[in-house]
Amino acid sequence: MHPFHTIIEPFRIKSVETWKFTTRDERVAALARARHNVFQLAAEDVLIDLLTDSGTGAMSSAQWGALINSDESYAGSRSFYRFEAVVRDLTGFTHIIPTHQGRAAERILFHTILHPGQIVPNNNHFDTTRANIEVEDAEARDLVIAEGRQPSVIHPFKGNIDLAALEALLDRDGDRVPLVMVTVTNNSGGGQPVSLANLRGVRALCDRYKKPFFLDACRFAENAWFIKQREEGQADRTPKAIAREVFGLADGCTMSAKKDGLANIGGFLAMNSDEWAEQCRNLLILTEGFPTYGGLAGYDLEAIARGLEEVVEEPYLRYRIRSTAYLAEKIAAADVPIIQPPGGHAVYIDARSMLPHIPPLQYPGIALLNALYVEAGVRGVEIGTVMFGRQPDGSERPAEMDLVRLAIPRRVYTQSHIDYVAEAVIYVAKMREQLRGYRITSAPKVLRHFTAAFDPL
Ligand code: F0G
Repeated sequence: MHPFHTIIEPFRIKSVETWKFTTRDERVAALARARHNVFQLAAEDVLIDLLTDSGTGAMSSAQWGALINSDESYAGSRSFYRFEAVVRDLTGFTHIIPTHQGRAAERILFHTILHPGQIVPNNNHFDTTRANIEVEDAEARDLVIAEGRQPSVIHPFKGNIDLAALEALLDRDGDRVPLVMVTVTNNSGGGQPVSLANLRGVRALCDRYKKPFFLDACRFAENAWFIKQREEGQADRTPKAIAREVFGLADGCTMSAKKDGLANIGGFLAMNSDEWAEQCRNLLILTEGFPTYGGLAGYDLEAIARGLEEVVEEPYLRYRIRSTAYLAEKIAAADVPIIQPPGGHAVYIDARSMLPHIPPLQYPGIALLNALYVEAGVRGVEIGTVMFGRQPDGSERPAEMDLVRLAIPRRVYTQSHIDYVAEAVIYVAKMREQLRGYRITSAPKVLRHFTAAFDPL
């Protein structure tokens, strides 16, 4: 090893995209046109877009090369077999069912297996997972450990599921639980990892109560890196070996390849059960496409196959997790409250404690988000009362936390971009007393955060 400590981007840039700079006045006008919901902005009006790390990554030259070499046959394309081989090598699952993205895998799985009144436990359900369960009149139950609900509490694996709570649920209501899920990393809880020990514990409980165990595997590689860094006895293993063990503990997974697939679109559903797989494939044909393409082009399958190989490489993961921590350290040093320790794909600002003068039902997350956009052209996303506050009966109550997530697209932004973001966050934090809350003027019943309209108070 060389004597230098700087962790550099493990790539050089071959193609660039220049962006449009906007003025503050232009951003004020753009936000008003978007009815104060940053989801409704034209992306061109955004400078640094940290809305999501999903589908926003940069593909490698090897991925672009694979695109050209794809096979676009309707049935049995060579690109499908390559995709299937890579996914099977990584996960070990018998049935690999491509889908156009993660939520399609969720929808197909849950519509196939769920009955009204059933309960699906998870550490924290992501919003699409929750919605796809609730639409079947089943319950999505979050059982993350207590530390995972306290932003400032340091714990190496804040994504762990509470095994005692899971056991109690299986003991009391086991006949209503069709499967157990765990999300790696735990996005809704701050991109926090789940330990191998915890996953082994879930496996043991699932064996005891004869329940299938599924992973929401979107960020499996980042989770593997955290296990390597933080869990005893794991430091000398490769991320791929750790990831394989994690998949090996489960009976299946849903996956959005837009995250750790390093692709711009795609996903899959994988499982060992022949019976469920047959039913899922039947629904797949109805809504996604033939089982060897599942709503994807052959070139998408190629991009994912190559992406899944690149994402477990150590230099990539070291840089990836370090760049997120770098942003977190800079803003935390300026006393901006964030979820500690920082997650893998994003930094989560605790808007509720940053803006104590804005009550949760006036959406402190939206206040912070909109200020970041107006002042600096940076776009994040609220993970809080707007996203989770609406109850199935139509009432509203504060979500567990009001967070603003700054998600880092993979391989897209350089260190100076991140320095700019840190400066912007610190600038807005200094003017926090001037920020005001919002009220919702219109919103749909499901997944309201995407299209809700707001008025500043
Ligand atoms: N599960 C988790 C943990 C996710 O983070 C996402 C997407 C999905 C499932 C659904 O996958 O978008 O391909 O349908 N998360 C994105 C985000 C949208 O911004 O965190 P999808």
